[in-house]
Amino acid sequence: MVYDEENILLMTPGPVSFHHRVYQAMSKVEFHHRTPEHRKTFGECVSMMKKVMQTENDVFIFTGSGTSAMDAAIANCVSPKDKVLNLIGGKFGERWAEITETFGAKSIRLEVEWGKAIKPEMVSNAIDKEPDIKFVTMCHNETSTAVLNPAQEIAKITNERDKLLIVDGVTSVGGDYVYPDKWGIDILVTGSQKCLGCPPGLGMIMVGPKAWEEIGKREKIPSYYVKLPSYRKAFEKSLDTPYTPAIPLVYGLHESLTMILEEGYENRVKRHRLMAETVRSGMKALGLQLLAEKGYESNTMTALKYPDGVDDNAFRKGMQKHGILVAGAQAHLKGKIFRVAHMNIIAEREVLLVLAMTGLVLRECGFKCESGAGVSAAQEIFLKNLR
Ligand SMILES: Cc1ncc(COP(=O)(O)O)c(C=O)c1O
Repeated sequence: MVYDEENILLMTPGPVSFHHRVYQAMSKVEFHHRTPEHRKTFGECVSMMKKVMQTENDVFIFTGSGTSAMDAAIANCVSPKDKVLNLIGGKFGERWAEITETFGAKSIRLEVEWGKAIKPEMVSNAIDKEPDIKFVTMCHNETSTAVLNPAQEIAKITNERDKLLIVDGVTSVGGDYVYPDKWGIDILVTGSQKCLGCPPGLGMIMVGPKAWEEIGKREKIPSYYVKLPSYRKAFEKSLDTPYTPAIPLVYGLHESLTMILEEGYENRVKRHRLMAETVRSGMKALGLQLLAEKGYESNTMTALKYPDGVDDNAFRKGMQKHGILVAGAQAHLKGKIFRVAHMNIIAEREVLLVLAMTGLVLRECGFKCESGAGVSAAQEIFLKNLR
């Protein structure tokens, strides 16, 4: 059997597989954006986005990928004289440092080995050493390593020390618990193509009151396209965006957010957590080891170390030949791990499939394992949890 590009199961950490309802919504005849009809749809998207982000703060939706929202966070809030503590345990934590430096601010890098989590005490020590740090940035769910960093505990520290916390929730919002208002996150960003279940091209940013205060103090914001006061003005005036939005993506997002709210926040997070547990157990039963430090494993994706002798290219090509796309690694982890995402509509059918196929392909690659062991381990968990 040869699987073509239109018949492939995406188990990559974004873009992910989307529901056909989202595609259908996107194929609607495009309506002009400066109309009451579009404004109603867009206004509903923002309201639903706030529910999914669990916030009462302002939320803006940009045309641009998740990085556009990261760019906006720094460009709007951080002045060149500011000190920013960038917490880094992978590619996306590192991206905050790169953006910080792009806008001329002083980046202080707190780095841990990729695969390890940032611990709260590391953050408090770093701040106590340099008390004039004003902002802390972090990636909640580090996609390059499948590590879930303890955002709630870190937020406690930044709040106690009166620092602003900027969080990348690109692969956690919509799939795992993120409570910016309760935890005390000042800026939270995400993107459309991960747990939110919409194609790529939209970035979202939540802006809390302390962040607005900082923005209010800026003499000049070094951006035209992602200047937040322009977005606030347009939205407050007429549920609008300052520039032409990606209208079909707005339709897609409207549908995917509707589906998320139909499922319910708790149910959705529980499902993601169950899928994560079954993937982890199944992969371990096949003889694979997780990259993530124990106790900090992501609930939306899993990173697995290749056993000796299994070639990255051969493995992923093999999976693709059998109809499943999984992701390789980034930076220095290339060739050493592969990543399986279980976001959005991924459920027991896909999990059992990916475990069965992993067993088959590992054996095709010469690794000796009981190729059905992953499926059996996952089935046991499903039997206990899905009655
Ligand atoms: C955690 C995280 N942050 C940021 C990004 C960047 O998002 P985008 O590629 O949509 O710009 C990604 C993309 O994979 C991500 O996983």
